[in-house]
Amino acid sequence: DKGNHRHFMLKEIHEQPVVVAQTLQSYLRPLEAQVALPDMEFDLAAIERVAIIACGTSSYVAMIGKYWIEQFARVPVEVDVASEYRYRDPVLTPNMLGLVISQSGETADTLAALRHLKVGGVTTAGIINVPTSSMAREVDLLLPTHAGPEIGVASTKAFTCQLAVMAALATNLARAKGKLSPEEEREIVRHLAEVPEAMSDALSRDEHIAGMAPRIAQARDVLYLGRGPDYPMALEGALKLKEISYIHAEGYASGEMKHGPIALIDDAVPLIVIAPSGPLFDKTVSNMHEAEARGAQVVLISDADGIAQAGENTIATIEMPKVHPLIAPLVYAVPVQLLAYHVAVAKGTDVDQPRNLAKSVTVE
Ligand code: M6R
Repeated sequence: DKGNHRHFMLKEIHEQPVVVAQTLQSYLRPLEAQVALPDMEFDLAAIERVAIIACGTSSYVAMIGKYWIEQFARVPVEVDVASEYRYRDPVLTPNMLGLVISQSGETADTLAALRHLKVGGVTTAGIINVPTSSMAREVDLLLPTHAGPEIGVASTKAFTCQLAVMAALATNLARAKGKLSPEEEREIVRHLAEVPEAMSDALSRDEHIAGMAPRIAQARDVLYLGRGPDYPMALEGALKLKEISYIHAEGYASGEMKHGPIALIDDAVPLIVIAPSGPLFDKTVSNMHEAEARGAQVVLISDADGIAQAGENTIATIEMPKVHPLIAPLVYAVPVQLLAYHVAVAKGTDVDQPRNLAKSVTVE
């Protein structure tokens, strides 16, 4: 049931504050100011490396997880898309954690990668939305997301719930590794608890984003830029747009622009820049100015400070609440999803059932 919404995708975008809160509830202990995982039969403190494997949107959660786990827990992380991992003969070692991420728990390549890890004797965990799925049954440690059924082919609420669980896992691993003081953990819990409200705030930009969508819908190509965890967000923005609007879109790490992609820039190419104010802001903005100088039609997604500092020559801005860098990916996912949604609506495509795509890819 779509409720009052025109599409399942829009309904699912708007459900996010509630389902992310539901998901966080099972991982946060606000009274103890701690993050908790379900009971496990292995020692998290013994983990020396992590391999994260997923497909599509779930693989961008893996990439963001790499930034978080390496930063907080100082444990090396490798990330692969499952179709590559299963055939590249990866090095499996004792004391390694194999982590799969999947909304459906049935994606053929991810399931095959999980089985490959298990045959190799690797301890496995899974961030999974469907609790009865094959992956949920086969992982050693199930880390459930509580997004509820996701109907739209374009993944939205599963993505942000996966990010919430990833933040909990990174925090727990950091504590187990002795890299996190109780004060630092208290701060993380405080910031995570702020997510639902910040997402609601982000959702209030819905109409503003709908207003700018017809202009973006004219484009043949759209580029997305971000740095740090906003680089996977740029990839996610581009995937979402191409899936449902059929506009060619690519995401790039901001710093890679001048190594080739900048050649694509002219005044017909919208450039969506994802840049919350913070330590990486000035770097991304300098890449944005280089593109503007070549005619790029910039849409800047940032907070009030960022927009005041760099919003001048843009064609549009989308203002987000000011949030801690840890939770920015959860909040910035919202405008990225809404932009793809409204561009697709402006183009008149089938948002919930895009051509050539299936909700769950159960054959390789
Ligand atoms: O169910 P999974 O999370 O394993 O699915 C992975 C991808 O097929 C999925 O994220 C796909 O990329 C979505 N259509 C993205 O919106």
